Amino acid sequence: MSKIDAVKILEFPELGDERGHLVVIEAYKNVPFDIKRIFYIYGSDNTVVRGKHANKHSDFCLINVSGTSKIKVTDTKGNQKIINLDRPHIGVYLPSMLWKEMYDFSPDSVLLVLSNEFYDENEYIRSYNDFLNGI
Ligand code: TYD
Repeated sequence: MSKIDAVKILEFPELGDERGHLVVIEAYKNVPFDIKRIFYIYGSDNTVVRGKHANKHSDFCLINVSGTSKIKVTDTKGNQKIINLDRPHIGVYLPSMLWKEMYDFSPDSVLLVLSNEFYDENEYIRSYNDFLNGI
C-alpha cells in the first residue's frame, strides 16, 4: 500500500441549529491521533505556495475553517493527490512522510492544522531530493 492511500478526507458532523453551526474535533474520535499542536495559516493569497516540506514523524489534519485552499501531497514514489478544502466541516488527514504543498488560498482562507506532535524543526525535510531519497 502506498503512503498516499492513507490520505483520508474527514467529514465532521455539523452540530447546529437555527443559531448556526458547531463542529467538534476530538482525538481518536474524529481525527486518528492525539492532538498535541494546533496552528493556523491566514493572510496567504493565490500567488503563494506554502509547505514544500515533509515531516518524518508528524501526522496532520488540515481544515479550511474559513475560505478555501488546495493541498497537493506527493509520496516518495511520486504518487500525487490534490485535495480541495472548501467547507468548514471537511478536513484531510495526512500521515507523515508526504511532501506537502498548500496553495490557491482564497482571501478569507483560514487553514487550521492539527498535529500529533509538538513542533520540532529536526523532523522537517525541506529538500525535495532528500525526501525522494528517503533521507
Ligand atoms: P513554515 O513551516 O514555513 O510554514 P508552512 O508549513 O505554512 O510553510 O513555518 C513558518 C514559521 O513558523 C517558521 O519560522 C517555523 C515556525 N513554526 C513554529 O515555530 N511552530 C510550528 O508549529 C510551525 C508549523 C511553524
